Amino acid sequence: MRSTANLAICEAAAADWLRIARLHARSWKSAYGRVLSADYLEHRVEAEREAAWKERIGGGLPNGFVVLLALEGEELVGFVSVRLDADAEWGSTIENLHVDPERKGRGTGRLLMAAAARWVLARRPESRLYLWVFEENRAACGFYQRMGGEAVELGPRSAPDGGMAPEFRFVWQRAQLAALAAGLEAGEANATAGTVRLREGA
Ligand SMILES: CC(C)(COP(=O)(O)OP(=O)(O)OC[C@H]1O[C@@H](n2cnc3c(N)ncnc32)[C@H](O)[C@@H]1OP(=O)(O)O)[C@@H](O)C(=O)NCCC(=O)NCCS
Repeated sequence: MRSTANLAICEAAAADWLRIARLHARSWKSAYGRVLSADYLEHRVEAEREAAWKERIGGGLPNGFVVLLALEGEELVGFVSVRLDADAEWGSTIENLHVDPERKGRGTGRLLMAAAARWVLARRPESRLYLWVFEENRAACGFYQRMGGEAVELGPRSAPDGGMAPEFRFVWQRAQLAALAAGLEAGEANATAGTVRLREGA
């Protein structure tokens, strides 16, 4: 059933690092079988994500960085992390977006994307937004197209298991970002089932 009426969005605090790490690891185990090595997903992902999130926010969140949590009551059901001014050309970036694997397809990802867009625009009204997504993560590519994003380049990038994998850079120009923040009324014309086309001339 699709409903986000019972969800609250709030900013994470340092003490949230462990539950974010646990959801992150669970999501990768569930969705990244084609992207990350079996050894990493079976044996290393939990410890690696815990170390990474402890270092990232355990001592306090750095300036220009936020993690927005989707909460159902006290339960964490999704999160998005955003960094301002990450790239001189492409603007601010979404570093991670994950929804509890058992709660996908209920509008939580859309809600988190809108919250991230609003957070960026409140601080950088002229910013663009971008993110990297693994080419093999077809479902997320389809979701980002549905959210009005446009793939502008594809290139090899280092993966958390130590390997390399091709990733798309998806971009939301200023107008698309405003549409995202406003609840995605516009900018959805890009959506196509299953394939990602790079922007012409990219
Ligand atoms: C990708 C992800 C964040 C999307 O969140 P979600 O809560 O499942 O998505 P929503 O229910 O909010 O979907 C929003 C819209 O996108 C559409 N959508 C979702 N998946 C899609 C897909 N594979 N292809 C096309 N459209 C898709 C939905 O149909 C919905 O459209 P509508 O609102 O117009 O009806 C979530 O599935 C997830 O955590 N995946 C695993 C982790 C991951 O890959 N994260 C991205 C890393 S870059």
